[in-house]
Amino acid sequence: MLKPNMYYGNLKESYLFYHIAQKTKAYLQEHPDAHLYRMGIGDVSLPLCDAVVKALHEAVDDQADAARFHGYMPECGAPFLREAIAEYYGKHGVSVTADEVFVSSGASDELGDLLDLFDRGSDALVIEPAYPAYVDANVMAGRNIVHLASSKENGFLPLPDENTKADIIYLCSPNNPTGAVFSREQLAQWVRFANENGAVILFDAAYEAFIEDETLPHSIFEIEGAKTCAIEICSLSKTAGFTGTRLGYTVIPKTLCRNGMNLNEMWVRNRTTKTNGVSYIIQKGGAAVFTDEGQRQIHDNIQIYKNNARILMEALDSIGIWYCGGKNAPYIWMKCPDNMGSWEFFDWILNEIQVVGTPGEGFGACGEGYFRFSTFGSPEDTKEAARRLVALLSKEKPIS
Ligand code: MLT
Repeated sequence: MLKPNMYYGNLKESYLFYHIAQKTKAYLQEHPDAHLYRMGIGDVSLPLCDAVVKALHEAVDDQADAARFHGYMPECGAPFLREAIAEYYGKHGVSVTADEVFVSSGASDELGDLLDLFDRGSDALVIEPAYPAYVDANVMAGRNIVHLASSKENGFLPLPDENTKADIIYLCSPNNPTGAVFSREQLAQWVRFANENGAVILFDAAYEAFIEDETLPHSIFEIEGAKTCAIEICSLSKTAGFTGTRLGYTVIPKTLCRNGMNLNEMWVRNRTTKTNGVSYIIQKGGAAVFTDEGQRQIHDNIQIYKNNARILMEALDSIGIWYCGGKNAPYIWMKCPDNMGSWEFFDWILNEIQVVGTPGEGFGACGEGYFRFSTFGSPEDTKEAARRLVALLSKEKPIS
């Protein structure tokens, strides 16, 4: 009889965001007229910007014309998009060549797929609280996971020390869920550790466009030495509203080698075998993001989400609730009221004020007692949710 992948038995019963969606659906079944203020999963609410929509329409017309029609796309990405992304890095002072850029259908897909590059016996270090897909993808592969807990005390930005042991290191900055951002000096410590120990950093930069503090790094390749120890994974989901359109990119330097193997060449081999590339239409839409007009328009949208973050931060400040994030990231990570568990807080605010967020425990044990709000909702909903939160949290808390 076929033996399935038994490591699935080690996973939690359901994926965090799926679980929240199920709980929310159950609430709506019981309260069909309720309006929910959705600040749970980080899904965008603004439509694609005009430059992208125009490019998508033009690409559809290309596909309808025999002379301009495209069949299979190059597996690693269309040259026009790989070049546009390399130029985007160049504008931010990082030199990357087009053949170091791989177009993907999104960061979450890619973060799982990239594990094909590593031996199953390698240890994966995950800083917790963490985006749950890092953990689940490694559990599915039966890999040993080193959980590095972070806390309010170290600003949710732990650094390696003499006890740290890891082969694959996940770093997410700006961080999901805490919104914390590594400084250059802190990232340099991780880069030094990875180079000295032959480890590889998987740097998730999906939220880089939300950084407003000019001293903070947007890319790990701004750090000297990173091109011999890091892979950067990025996405247009949050930057340009592509959660439903799907497009991301990964940078693997040609200088990244381990055990005599070149990881960039390995990834070319992997992609040319396992994918037929991302659709021409979507890549044309993606390329429009990197034009001057596209950049202006997506930054206008990002400002709207940043304003949502300001509304929520002011609300929490007004009632003295501790939080971090929100300034350089689209997530706010708040402390739950005294002694309240994060799932208990989830149920409480859903039932009392119809606000949906994400319990910190879903991001790992050390997230217990915290709660994450996404700022990707509409300004109207964010204002009303903030008003309801202030009203509820100013009242006496239920005894837990
Ligand atoms: C989140 O809410 O953490 C993200 O939106 C999930 C994702 O990007 O897959």
